[in-house]
Amino acid sequence: MNSKDIISKVKKAYDIIARLHKTKVKSAEHDHRFIEKFLALLEPNQNVLDIGAGTGELSHEMGTKHLLKVTAIDLSKKMVKIAKEHYPDLNIQLMNITNLKFPPKSFDAVFANYSLIHIPEQDIVKVLKQIHKVLKFKGYVYFSLQKPTSKKQKDGFYDVVYQKQVKLFINLINENEIRKYLNKAKFKVLWTGLRESDKKTEFPFDKLFVAARKM
Ligand SMILES: C[S@@+](CC[C@H](N)C(=O)[O-])C[C@H]1O[C@@H](n2cnc3c(N)ncnc32)[C@H](O)[C@@H]1O
Repeated sequence: MNSKDIISKVKKAYDIIARLHKTKVKSAEHDHRFIEKFLALLEPNQNVLDIGAGTGELSHEMGTKHLLKVTAIDLSKKMVKIAKEHYPDLNIQLMNITNLKFPPKSFDAVFANYSLIHIPEQDIVKVLKQIHKVLKFKGYVYFSLQKPTSKKQKDGFYDVVYQKQVKLFINLINENEIRKYLNKAKFKVLWTGLRESDKKTEFPFDKLFVAARKM
């Protein structure tokens, strides 16, 4: 399947499960320590782009708790609609990560919590290069990713979460791969983190966290 078809399927799937996603996210409690470690690099009033912001919980938290100036984007109309209902002050708009429409050097940081996981491998470096372009010099980037727990697990469509209502395309990325991609797009990795999946509520893959800086 080509990238366009994969991304179009991801968009349709999130439109279907948007309300369910809203009930499922509780401020990313398992991942908080990694998110907080990243946000500690930033200063109040800095400009942050949240890519694949979903229903907006983390964007809202970055704005209200960390006092960052947040711009959020998402591919799914339904996710954006729900984010706007709950957080009317949030600056969120429909936009595809593969086609960022911001002037160069607009942001101090880019934040991507489990959104790059939906981008097929052939597009990852292209997306990272766009992120590089919209970041200021020495700007920061953060990713939460799904990592294969065994060699048997491959990229593909998985339905385990969201009550098996939809199949979502997941690109499984290990640490060597993300380092290679970031290097190609001219980022320097600052740190990585790892945790196991909470298999009752999450996809059965390890979670990989990466913070990097524009060179
Ligand atoms: C697992 S959810 C995470 C949402 C949010 N970051 C959070 O942590 O709650 C992934 C989100 O990425 C969005 N997404 C997937 N592919 C995208 C793309 N190509 N461009 C923009 N958003 C995308 C989906 O619509 C969905 O809202």
